[in-house]
Amino acid sequence: MAQYRNNMKILGYESSCDETGVAVVCTEQGLLAHGLHSQIAMHQAYGGVVPELASRDHIRRVLPLTEQVLHEAGLGLDDIDAIAYTAGPGLNGALLVGASFANSLAWARGIPTLPVHHLEGHLLSPLLADPAPEFPFVALLVSGGHTQIMQVEGVGQYRLLGETLDDAAGEAFDKSAKLLGLSYPGGPALAALAEKGNPDRIQLPRPMLHSGDFDFSFSGLKTAVLTALRKLEKEQGQATDQDRADLAAATQAAIVDVLAIKSLRALKKSGLKRLVVAGGVGANLLLRQHLLAETQRMGVQVYFPPVSLCTDNGAMIAFAAAQRIKYGIQELQSAASFKVRPRWDLEDVAV
Ligand code: KG4
Ligand code: ZN
Repeated sequence: MAQYRNNMKILGYESSCDETGVAVVCTEQGLLAHGLHSQIAMHQAYGGVVPELASRDHIRRVLPLTEQVLHEAGLGLDDIDAIAYTAGPGLNGALLVGASFANSLAWARGIPTLPVHHLEGHLLSPLLADPAPEFPFVALLVSGGHTQIMQVEGVGQYRLLGETLDDAAGEAFDKSAKLLGLSYPGGPALAALAEKGNPDRIQLPRPMLHSGDFDFSFSGLKTAVLTALRKLEKEQGQATDQDRADLAAATQAAIVDVLAIKSLRALKKSGLKRLVVAGGVGANLLLRQHLLAETQRMGVQVYFPPVSLCTDNGAMIAFAAAQRIKYGIQELQSAASFKVRPRWDLEDVAV
C-alpha cells in the first residue's frame, strides 16, 4: 500500500450529518479547493435533521460536488493519491453514503483510502487558518453533538480533560431556540435574536460552574428556558418579542459563560498558552469576543477556524487525513472493505 511522499493530493468527503462536503488538500500546499452543500433548507420544514432525507440528499450531491471541486483545484482524478472520508461518529446512513462513494471511487482508481474521525477534523481545522496555532494547545471542541475540552500535544495526541455529561453546547442552543419558536438550526438563529435582547434581565443557571472539573451539563438549561417562558406567559398572557429576545440573550450568555470559564481554567491548570476553538458553536460571535478578551488578559493566544470551516465541511476531513498520513500516524487502507462507526470516541484515534 502506498505511503506518504511529498505533495500527496487527498480528496476528502464529509457526510456525517446534514452537510455534504468535498475537498482536495495537498500534504505540503494545504487546502486546494473545497465545496459544500448544506441541507438546512430541506430539514427546516421538520424542525431538525431527518436521517433518511439526509442520506438521500448526500447521494444526490456527492458526485456533482466532486466534479466541481476537482475543476476548481485544476485537477483530474489521475492526480489524486488517496481518498479520505468521515467514518464516524454521525448518522449511520449518511456516513455510509460518503464511505461507500469514497471507497468505490478509490477502488475504481486503484488508490488507497483513509477513514477519518469527524471530531479530529474539527479539532485540527484551526490549523487551516492563518496564522495557524502551534502545538501544544488546549482545545474547546463545541459542535452540535459534542462538547469537550482536550489537551492536544500534536496530531493524534489528544487527552480528554472534560466533556458534557448530557446535552452538547450546540444542542443547548438548538433546543432552547426551538422553545423560543426559532427555526432549525437554532444556534445562529438564537444568536441573531440575542443581539436585540438584554442578557441581564432574566437569570439562567450556569450548570456545573463550580464542579471543580472540566465537565459540562447543559440539559437543565432548556428546562430553565421553558420555565422562564411559562412564567412570562402566566404573568403577561403571552411572551412579547422583546421577552423572547431577552431570553435568547440570557441563554447565549449562560452557555458562553460556562464554556469560557471552563476553557480558561483548563488553560491555567495545564499551563498552556494557546487555546483553539473548533466546531459549529465556534462560529458564535459572543463566544469569540468573550474568549478573545479574556485570553488577552491572561497573555494567552486564542485561535478560531475561519467561520466557514467551523461547521461541517470536507476541508477538515481531507486536512486531518493529510496530517495523519504526513506524520505516519495512520496507514492508508485498501478500498476493498470499509465500515462506519456512528458512535466513536475521539480518544480511540489518539496514539
Ligand atoms: O460542528 P457542527 O457543524 O456539526 C456537528 O458536528 O454537530 O455544529 C453544528 C452546531 C449546531 O448545534 C448549531 O446550532 C451550532 O453548531 N451553531 C451555532 C452557531 N453556528 C452554528 N451555535 C451558536 N452560534 C452560532 N453562530
Ligand atoms: Zn461536526
